[in-house]
Amino acid sequence: MSDTTTTLAITRAVPGGESRVEEYVVPYEDGLTLLDAIIWIRRHHDPSLAVRFSCKANACKECSAVIDGKPGFLCAQRAVPDATTRIGPLPKPRLIRDLVTELY
Ligand code: FES
Repeated sequence: MSDTTTTLAITRAVPGGESRVEEYVVPYEDGLTLLDAIIWIRRHHDPSLAVRFSCKANACKECSAVIDGKPGFLCAQRAVPDATTRIGPLPKPRLIRDLVTELY
């Protein structure tokens, strides 16, 4: 197993409350998507981290988030080795919790 890691700085958003950014270090492997990394975080560090997804194949659009300042899909973007990726919820739909917003 590689010693390479990737870091996600994830905004833990609370409706009407104070948001905070938490950093998570995740083992990196080729092809790791940001959604894969978040699922790893939920399994190994914090099952309370809220994220929505269905297909994991860039089809359902449920994993929308703001990634390094731009809207994108967590399952369609690769994690970057030895780097930090900033991830937060979309700004417009009603926030539910963490990375989950209301679906249009
Ligand atoms: S999980 Fe369906 S588009 Fe990302």
